[in-house]
Amino acid sequence: MAHFFSDKAIENFKTVQTPFYYYNTELLKKTLQVATSEAKKYDYHIHYAVKANANQQILSIIREAGVGADCVSGGEIQAALKAGFSAEKIVFAGVGKADWEINLGLDENIFCFNAESIPELEVINELAAKKSKTAQIALRINPEVDAHTHHHITTGTKENKFGINLDQLDGVLNKLQTLASLKLIGIHFHIGSQLLETEPFFMLCKRTLEIQEQLAKRGISLENINFGGGLGIDYNDPDNHLIPDFKTYFEIFHKHFPVKSGQQVHFEPGRSIVGQCGALISKVLYVKEGSFKKFAVLDAGFTELIRPALYDAYHKIENLTSDEAEETYDVVGPICESSDCFGKALTLNKAHRGDIFALRSAGAYGEIMASQYNCRKLPEAYFI
Ligand code: LLP
Repeated sequence: MAHFFSDKAIENFKTVQTPFYYYNTELLKKTLQVATSEAKKYDYHIHYAVKANANQQILSIIREAGVGADCVSGGEIQAALKAGFSAEKIVFAGVGKADWEINLGLDENIFCFNAESIPELEVINELAAKKSKTAQIALRINPEVDAHTHHHITTGTKENKFGINLDQLDGVLNKLQTLASLKLIGIHFHIGSQLLETEPFFMLCKRTLEIQEQLAKRGISLENINFGGGLGIDYNDPDNHLIPDFKTYFEIFHKHFPVKSGQQVHFEPGRSIVGQCGALISKVLYVKEGSFKKFAVLDAGFTELIRPALYDAYHKIENLTSDEAEETYDVVGPICESSDCFGKALTLNKAHRGDIFALRSAGAYGEIMASQYNCRKLPEAYFI
């Protein structure tokens, strides 16, 4: 693939109001092609995690690749339907589903509700009964696998709000037997996000086999196993790893989780599908000389990309319009908060007012997490 930004794209950037999101749809399509062909080797099913990026054009491209959608709100279900995803390819997760959202899922006959607690099961059962429907349920289980990732995006350990803990599973299954409008079709996990090691996925396979055995003792056979998402991307060196290693990822599961006949295995990748195809494009408003350092003050702030402020996340920053000798800058935004900083002591080609900066690997959890704090406008999106 040519450089992520063509010369023509950079020329165009100069004429457009910044900040905005730029998506390389060619890369998105290639990524989808690799992900789906690697999954197909083992007959695995992919549901794209809509939370990573719900831009309609992005969703349409993803839907064309033939994958399903993993949604965590009624709004995401609506966005997925609008982009043409069929309801039987939609799964609905989330620890706090509101009644209207459950009703929407029931009315649309979505594939499955990933449920996380007894009170939630009771409500889904009651709402399904009112409609004389049966809701398909997968239990989200907390497998107690440590994902070794940022504590804000770790989800598979006992102390966080997600999932049914292993010691509570029997109680939930007992309850489930009494809920006539629910049908258990599988189990669901998601241990965390931005995982770059294989060991947590290996542990997840091991734990899943144990759980499967425990359920088999109760006469429950599982038609669907959903391993969630989590595969990480290379934020440090995006150009050398534009497409994540889906091959190794799916191989781990193939090697360590033998699929039973009639069983379907599902995955919910978000970041690994859309992360590298997007960049936040911004202009330098001012180069400000501090007492002992220089600041490049951008017109984008944490309102457009909150990951650095929220998780200390690193996004590679490039000055697309300067090839002058490198200097050291703190790259900051215009928002009235000290946390509005994209990176400290970064080495960049000498910056001037008007230079165009790209914040790379921002396709996932970028545009979708934008806010209007300081009465700012939500960013536009442009596509190659
Ligand atoms: N499935 C479930 C149930 C999830 O909770 C998530 C992400 C995914 C799938 C997709 O995970 P992925 O493949 O993208 O890792 N805003 C944070 C990430 C939050 C992830 C929440 N759950 C960030 O910017 O890093």
